[in-house]
Amino acid sequence: MSDIVIDYTNVMAESVGPESGLTMEGFSALRPREKKIHKQLAKRRKSGDLPFFDLPYKTADAKKLVTAAKRLRKDFSTIVVLGIGGSALGTTALFNALCHSRHNSLPASKRNGMRLFVEDNIDPDHFSELLSTLKLKETVFNVISKSGSTAETMAQFMIVANILSSKIGKGWKKHLILTTDAKSGALRKIADKNKIKSFIVPDGVGGRFTVLTSVCLLPAAAAGIDILGLLKGAARMDERIQNDSILLNPAYLFAAANYLLDTTKAKKMIVMMPYSNKLKDVADWFRQLWAESLGKRRDFDGNPVYAGQTPIKALGATDQHSQIQLYVEGPFDKVVCFIEVEKFDIKVPIPHGFEELPGISYLGGHTLNDLINVEKKGTEYALTANHRPNMTIRLPEINANTLGQLLYMLEVATAFAGGLYRVDAFNQPGVEFGKEYAYAMLGRKGYEEKHVELTPSKKAENRVV
Ligand code: PA5
Repeated sequence: MSDIVIDYTNVMAESVGPESGLTMEGFSALRPREKKIHKQLAKRRKSGDLPFFDLPYKTADAKKLVTAAKRLRKDFSTIVVLGIGGSALGTTALFNALCHSRHNSLPASKRNGMRLFVEDNIDPDHFSELLSTLKLKETVFNVISKSGSTAETMAQFMIVANILSSKIGKGWKKHLILTTDAKSGALRKIADKNKIKSFIVPDGVGGRFTVLTSVCLLPAAAAGIDILGLLKGAARMDERIQNDSILLNPAYLFAAANYLLDTTKAKKMIVMMPYSNKLKDVADWFRQLWAESLGKRRDFDGNPVYAGQTPIKALGATDQHSQIQLYVEGPFDKVVCFIEVEKFDIKVPIPHGFEELPGISYLGGHTLNDLINVEKKGTEYALTANHRPNMTIRLPEINANTLGQLLYMLEVATAFAGGLYRVDAFNQPGVEFGKEYAYAMLGRKGYEEKHVELTPSKKAENRVV
């Protein structure tokens, strides 16, 4: 199986010039820190403090999920994930990357697994419209919340439980699977008390690092994804990230290049731009991973640092016609990370024709496959010529193995970048902050103080036009 690679030629000063580009000396200057961070991460991994590192080897657990998914497929045609953030984004990324792009509309005989919907918002219209189209008897809901108390997910759960108990009657609980912490949280209590089938979010694995756990692997397996292949790809990447040298370690290289571009060249934003519809939601998944992990007010010593690069998602070639103008000619504040696929599954030739119109007839004889990658190269040249750093993550093809490599590489890169920025990449106090205000407004016990902070006397006057 082939490896994914990162081409970082165009982040270097030789390509984009000294104002925006990096030098080998810049990378070398990180050498002492890179060795130290490598050691610290290895130590934490060994002590069990960072269990996400070892997920590629949890094949026995994955096999159990494959068996559970097989059983689900016998009883149901559709699985609906109710979850948000790290409890949803990984599943969407896997589903869209590895299943047929029209999977849910295909007849059962033409798809490998169950129909899968990931409902990660509480938009009342969107939620009701989904529920109104489901055949309840054929549907199982996988409610996923590590904390077991997230308001959005729990509200969805309460609505669905109510509908199931009234419409299905006896046996309605079989239409639920709860994925949550082994011991704590409301969802765990509900699962245990009502004897509802449940799975465990492994201890110490934060939401955005759960793509290789039951959180995403169960729904993925239900939809027919080769989850063991994913783990194998991640394990392959794990071999490659053992090297403590940035220039020989794809995850460290990705982290170091972005860290240096951010902190020494003011590239405060990273645009993740796959030239593949299937990888569009990997950019979405990455956005959470990079933003929530590195966007921190304080460093390890408690000093204010306001760290973090803003991740943006874009899709090639579509967004060439919406955003590239800005990236090529606007402020010098971004680095673009392309994701390129060398070999698509299907070759689509463009037929010859319209010879009297040379403005389009030149397309005849090429393929859509050539066109999408040539367009990527064109954008890459345009950015480089205009002194805009960019890099390319190249996948030989999209399959479970290469996707496993990619996701794991980005997770390790995030952990390493946390070391470079000297921030805790594994907490999210800012997210909790907002959650607490919402709990207060909804009258959740224990959050009264937050409500006091929101009283009008302490607020600025409302100004609405
Ligand atoms: O990455 C994270 O930790 C968050 O995005 C969570 O996944 C998100 O807030 C949902 O939390 P929970 O799974 O506890 O419902």
